[in-house]
Amino acid sequence: MSIVQHRSLKSIIKGIWTHSLSILTMFTFPYQVTVACHRMRGVKIGKKSHVARGVILDDRNPELIEIGKGVAVTSGVMILCHQRDLKNYRPGMYAMHCPFKEGRVVIKDGAHIGIGAIIMPGVTIGEGAIIGAGSVVTHDIPPYCVAVGSPAKVIRSFANMEINSSTTK
Ligand SMILES: CC(C)(COP(=O)(O)OP(=O)(O)OC[C@H]1O[C@@H](n2cnc3c(N)ncnc32)[C@H](O)[C@@H]1OP(=O)(O)O)[C@@H](O)C(=O)NCCC(=O)NCCS
Repeated sequence: MSIVQHRSLKSIIKGIWTHSLSILTMFTFPYQVTVACHRMRGVKIGKKSHVARGVILDDRNPELIEIGKGVAVTSGVMILCHQRDLKNYRPGMYAMHCPFKEGRVVIKDGAHIGIGAIIMPGVTIGEGAIIGAGSVVTHDIPPYCVAVGSPAKVIRSFANMEINSSTTK
């Protein structure tokens, strides 16, 4: 994860743009319009992916989010790409004195992110993985599994099952 010390004027203007579009995504429908707004904010979203209204996709670094094809991101999900770097945090400081560190979030094709899940910076969610409602994902999740809880843990895997080629992608 990279460390960020200062904000430039350009990044402040970009912030106003991404925050404004973010507010819009709370009210937009159908999902295609919501997806279009997030793409304009810089989020990479593949074909046939659904992003529900009210999903929060990092306001500071939306361009660090990569959502593959056929992904479902359901209501109330939050995807974060920044957090405070606590390396030099000491008594007598305010937490806000710590710089931000940033990490890319990648959600691979066909994954499903359950209602209200939180995806933390730097995480990759594997192809076809299912994240349970309300889970907090702090580590990478492998393909074709179910992961639940806080922190999210794999409770079931489909990875070794026979491939289903009858479903149209
Ligand atoms: C994760 C999920 C897919 C698992 O479904 P499932 O395979 O049918 O699993 P089960 O309901 O049999 O639960 C298996 C175990 O996981 C636990 N579990 C299920 N969902 C959980 C969750 N979100 N958080 C924590 N634990 C969960 C169950 O309590 C159960 O534990 P137990 O074996 O100790 O009793 C489902 O529970 C879920 O959260 N789906 C997302 C719902 C959603 O977002 N809906 C919107 C659709 S648009």
